[in-house]
Amino acid sequence: MHTLENIDKTKLPKHIAVIMDGNGRWAKQRGKLRVFGHENGVKAVRKTVENSAQLGIDFLTLYAFSTENWNRPKLEVDTLMRLLVASLRKELKTLNKNNIRLRAVGTIESLPAKAHKELQEVISKTAENTGMTLTLALSYGSREELKTAIKGIASKVKNNIISIEKIDETVINTHLYTHFLPDVDLLIRTSGEHRISNFLLWQIAYAELYFIDVFWPDFSEHHLVEAIISYQNRERRFGKTSEQLN
Ligand code: IPE
Ligand code: IPE
Ligand code: MG
Repeated sequence: MHTLENIDKTKLPKHIAVIMDGNGRWAKQRGKLRVFGHENGVKAVRKTVENSAQLGIDFLTLYAFSTENWNRPKLEVDTLMRLLVASLRKELKTLNKNNIRLRAVGTIESLPAKAHKELQEVISKTAENTGMTLTLALSYGSREELKTAIKGIASKVKNNIISIEKIDETVINTHLYTHFLPDVDLLIRTSGEHRISNFLLWQIAYAELYFIDVFWPDFSEHHLVEAIISYQNRERRFGKTSEQLN
């Protein structure tokens, strides 16, 4: 088993994204309601944020609620929104203490008014922080994001603000919710599922994928360490040959 000391601080992934999955099954295993899993998932979020900041990760992006998650039972959606409000309130101090800047991606205006307001407040109250950027993907779906970006670019073309020839990857990037983030280096998904579930499809083009068979509430520091060590032992070729890199 590896520890923090085994991590090469000169080769840290700049941007880690996490699909925090398995809260419901974690609770079910214990004979409890799904909401109990979400409550315990919040604790894993807190630990992961603190550990990442301490390690010196620049960008941590957490998939907290997808556009498809709106289709869950109302009681579960309401609980998740209530937990979001409570956590934001509670964590503001810790975010500031750790110099963490909070941001959000997704159709956040579709969140309940209370959650939207609380979110905006923490975003603005941490806006001056210069350490890690913590981005919450809330009511986020990659296809929705791409659709919105395409509409935005199309309307600029229509109004002669940009020409079709000028549309390149940079223009597309600037129209995504994630315009302030670099590409994902390491994508972690918990719970044993091997899928992306509509998360950052454009941004993970060259991310290293790491799937781990623990439910999100059990994800702890040593799992994060193992994920980073695995990342550091891979050769990222970006289409080139191994010989070209060395
Ligand atoms: C992840 O856990 C949290 C959210 C999607 C909000 P799940 O709620 O998906 O838990 P499982 O995957 O059903 O176990
Ligand atoms: C992905 O998990 C969304 C979040 C972690 C917020 P889901 O549990 O919604 O994904 P599927 O339905 O198993 O693909
Ligand atoms: Mg799930």
